[in-house]
Amino acid sequence: MCGIFGYVGSRRASPVLIEGLRQLEYRGYDSAGLAVLDGGLKVVRTAGKIAVLERRLRGERLDGSCGVAHTRWATHGAATERNAHPHTGCRGELAVVHNGIIENHLALRRELQARGHRFQSETDTEVLAHLIEDAYEGRLEQAVMRALARVRGAYGIAVLHREEPNRIVLARCGSPLVIGIGAGEHFAASDVTALIRYTRHVIHLEDGDVAVLEPGRFSITSMSAGAAVDREVETVDWDVDEVARGGYPHYMLKEICEQPESIRNAIRGRIVLEDGIPKLGGLEAVIEQVRRCRHLVIVSCGTSFYAGMVGRYLMEEFTDLTVEVELASEFRYRRLQLGERTMVLAISQSGETADTLAAVREAKRKGALCLGLVNAVGSSIARETHAGVYMHAGPEIGVASTKAFTSELVILTLMALLFGRHRRLSLFEGRRVLEELQRLPELVARVLEQRQQIRELAERFADCEHFLYIGRRFSYPIALEGALKLKEIVYVHAEGYAAGEMKHGPLALIDPSYVCVALCPRNEVQDKTLSNMQEVRARGGRMIALTTEGDPAARELADAVIEVPATLECLSPVLEVVPLQLFAYDLAVLRGRDVDKPRNLAKSVTVE
Ligand code: AGP
Repeated sequence: MCGIFGYVGSRRASPVLIEGLRQLEYRGYDSAGLAVLDGGLKVVRTAGKIAVLERRLRGERLDGSCGVAHTRWATHGAATERNAHPHTGCRGELAVVHNGIIENHLALRRELQARGHRFQSETDTEVLAHLIEDAYEGRLEQAVMRALARVRGAYGIAVLHREEPNRIVLARCGSPLVIGIGAGEHFAASDVTALIRYTRHVIHLEDGDVAVLEPGRFSITSMSAGAAVDREVETVDWDVDEVARGGYPHYMLKEICEQPESIRNAIRGRIVLEDGIPKLGGLEAVIEQVRRCRHLVIVSCGTSFYAGMVGRYLMEEFTDLTVEVELASEFRYRRLQLGERTMVLAISQSGETADTLAAVREAKRKGALCLGLVNAVGSSIARETHAGVYMHAGPEIGVASTKAFTSELVILTLMALLFGRHRRLSLFEGRRVLEELQRLPELVARVLEQRQQIRELAERFADCEHFLYIGRRFSYPIALEGALKLKEIVYVHAEGYAAGEMKHGPLALIDPSYVCVALCPRNEVQDKTLSNMQEVRARGGRMIALTTEGDPAARELADAVIEVPATLECLSPVLEVVPLQLFAYDLAVLRGRDVDKPRNLAKSVTVE
């Protein structure tokens, strides 16, 4: 997804901007550009990677110390230099970088063209440049506000004007923007991870905010209040090292291997064993409302949606809530009745996923209590939900979500136990699950010890083009997640299915070209899954079985076996998913894929 970086201070802006863009690379992009105020306004843009932009800059003299930069992920118009940001108006006096989508851009473009404006690109963003140009009367922030009053849609923008050489104007509505505060310098970025190389003191702008950055000062105005506002300065405690790859060849592998630690962080200080109850500070203020609720709707996308599916089994196991899990992109357009007794839980690693955020807003409009389970501190979903719990998984850079998923599972377990203990769940049962939960980091570390075996397994199956993942109950969402990992980073055909559904269609696919990955840990439904494995076997499909350590049952039916330690069935998904993450990672590396930045995908999906 697009990225914004801005700098104003006393350093040469262009190297700072390039470094800022590099920190945003993981979001996915297909063109890049920057604008610097250097006497006049200089703009350099390219299709392709930041390295190409950097090469282009070698031929330019850019000494200015105020500039904005952008990585674009094409939505309106192809990934060409002409469509790359920054965009300028007709007179080339101002430059705009923009994340988001301007919904009424066509009508505005026609109107501006009728007034004589000439457009250079096919983008919705260029409309902003012309609107601001039209509204400019000597004060950039006033022009920005006047222009934005005409706009419908989502935006995070950064704007420069050549008549105001040491100023950046920012505005946010629905697309994140963060200010970084330095000594005699200020930064702006669409993602806090891009700032921490320079400063740990940040301000998250809110929707409707317009900010002005100068080297020694900044101000923020709320457009709705029409007045200056104070926003809290937050101190980011992520380490620069945490953001770097830490010796691993890819962020994804680093993040897979970090899971014992990220799970520890998810449960740290949250378990009161003697009372058999979790302590989730972020939910304390709403716990009475939670107690009154009878229904829970979980909304999320992608991997976070599969976590929500596991969440449904957990809630049903430990509470008397009726639970629905809905893709946020569907939820937001359903005509769902949400009474007072319904609460909505939004799950999101980034906290910025457009559909999930829209679902939260829709649920709030309908009067539901909205809870969030989010990793990115201060993100939109974290701020817009009534209450919530942070994952504390640290930054997740690889596009394929791994450690955030296991943190989501662990915290969903805590939430289910908390809601359960306020209802029917016994002290004994609460304690039993919490005790086992505390063992999870160590059990995940044991799974990670199989790193070499899983790499060998990937080598054996490296040429296969069709994978079918199957599982039942708690393992069913893990089958879906295992298949998603393969799709997104290996680019092979992979499907996840409820094992019981095989006879209702997918069995017809099976032939020796298919590899079935059967999730078959020892539990109440293991016999059923074994029968499904037999059905696949009988039709010549190859079989990888994931089963419990020392359990012979699935071994006889499989070409290869992955074992995970024994645990409670409700916690088993955390262990089952780890080897599937590794398997996908190894296959992707063997096929030479861009593991951390798979084609066509972005880390943070901030458009619908
Ligand atoms: C995960 O591997 C995917 N890249 C994607 O499905 C992701 O989980 C989804 O876009 C939701 O993101 P979120 O958790 O940040 O809301």
